[in-house]
Amino acid sequence: AAEGVEERRALAELAAGVAREAGELAADGQEGIGVLATKSTPTDVVTAMDRSSEELIRKRLLSARPGDAVLGEEGGEEAGAGGAGRVRWIVDPIDGTVNYLYGREEWAVSIAAEVEGRVVAGAVAVPRRGQVYTAVLGGGSFLDGRPLQAPEAPSLDFALIATGFGYDPRRRAWQAEVLRTVLPRVRDIRRNGSAAVDLCSLARGQADGYYERGLNQWDWAAGALVAQEAGVLVGGLRGAPANPDLTIAAGPGLFEELHGLLEPLAADTDGPAAEDG
Ligand code: IPD
Ligand code: CA
Ligand code: CA
Ligand code: CA
Repeated sequence: AAEGVEERRALAELAAGVAREAGELAADGQEGIGVLATKSTPTDVVTAMDRSSEELIRKRLLSARPGDAVLGEEGGEEAGAGGAGRVRWIVDPIDGTVNYLYGREEWAVSIAAEVEGRVVAGAVAVPRRGQVYTAVLGGGSFLDGRPLQAPEAPSLDFALIATGFGYDPRRRAWQAEVLRTVLPRVRDIRRNGSAAVDLCSLARGQADGYYERGLNQWDWAAGALVAQEAGVLVGGLRGAPANPDLTIAAGPGLFEELHGLLEPLAADTDGPAAEDG
């Protein structure tokens, strides 16, 4: 399964259709939404729609492909029938819940298909903008079906850098420290509120670079493939893949500069990476 680009394309199309549908459901329910519960910290909130969106996504994916496994932020891991080459879906039902709660537009539904530890296809729907990003490993990335190619990255001093903050106050203290160093060195900083959208925005030159500590796989899985297939480098420190300790994304040249700036700051000052969605 998913060996060829054609199979991967079919997975991306399924992800896109399901993300679009869940996005419409969530957009229709955004007005008047409230906090349902808090999770890892008092600022780590979940709404009824985070759960409804994930339930819909699970239902649609598993009815199209019974036996696949699904990992979702709200529902955890649901194991499928198993077997080599099987697909594991990685789902963030609403990425940018705080924006969603405040009636803002920058939130997304993110769905990625992983096979043997590699993300091979993904979709990020941004419902309030009517946009769907898709990506296929080895097959390119697209915005509403139009191919994306990231522009050449500027040097760090002229780079617009997106970042985000977790929900754990200790991690935020580290993030604030890092910002003290990064902000004077770059064109400007954006904190838009959705890691998935941040990564996709690099694929079309709406930001030059991105970094964040404390992400979970569902935050970056689909968006990172969209960025990568448009020519953006995505990784962790010292050649590691993107991971909860640090995710960095930028075009060639800028990636190395950003990595060089962040590496000395990345000593663990906030304890082990918390699962803070
Ligand atoms: C969060 C968003 C945010 C990022 C946080 C994530 P959620 O995801 O992606 O931009 O800074 O680290 O946890 O909780 O809204 O799905
Ligand atoms: Ca998220
Ligand atoms: Ca989420
Ligand atoms: Ca969350």
